[in-house]
Amino acid sequence: MIIAVDGPAASGKGTIARRLAAHFALPYLDTGLLYRGVAHAMLQHGHDAGDAAQAFALARGLDVEALDDEALRTAQVGAMASVVAAMPDVRAALLEVQKAFAAKPQGAVLDGRDIGTVICPHADVKLFVTASSEVRARRRFLELQKRGEAIEESQVLADIQLRDERDQSRAAAPLVQAPDAVLLDTSNLDIENAFRAALAEVERAVLARTPKSR
Ligand code: C5P
Repeated sequence: MIIAVDGPAASGKGTIARRLAAHFALPYLDTGLLYRGVAHAMLQHGHDAGDAAQAFALARGLDVEALDDEALRTAQVGAMASVVAAMPDVRAALLEVQKAFAAKPQGAVLDGRDIGTVICPHADVKLFVTASSEVRARRRFLELQKRGEAIEESQVLADIQLRDERDQSRAAAPLVQAPDAVLLDTSNLDIENAFRAALAEVERAVLARTPKSR
């Protein structure tokens, strides 16, 4: 079974996807980490944010096994990730590794922005997880604060709105709900209830696909 989970930053999609993967014992890929990995390398090398040639070279050489989660979670890396993610060559360089992950024999859970539309258009279940930008900013702010980042909540909201705008308006694989994806708004749900709602959708989809016994 392939489960595609898409949505904007801090919508809860990562936690939902990780928990669905654990529940169904499926491998899990956070595809945002790939773009964050490229962004982190760009920053480390001091490359200009608009340098598409360098971003492409770094994407091609990305060691997917060695992505250090913590260093990639900063607000600065997130902002740079959405810049490199708009570059068609960067997306092309990261396409195969994602498709290969989804082709594992037992299936997989992937989360990102274009899983249901580009990476796994034939996924068994597609979820589009969202929440209001204020709720998402609050969540991300608390997360960054916990990690010791000195940042104002208003700045986090501005960053999220800018990132949404960039992700939705880019020409290459923009953030958009696939027509056959189920919309899950987590604005008023805590993580437990968001997971339960997602699980109910997956189970509904699985049941709908199971041939009825006579
Ligand atoms: O999900 P996360 O916030 O870690 O993603 C960081 C950035 O990577 C996003 O803002 C988006 O621009 C990009 N991304 C993408 N396609 C994906 C996953 C992430 O464009 N499948």
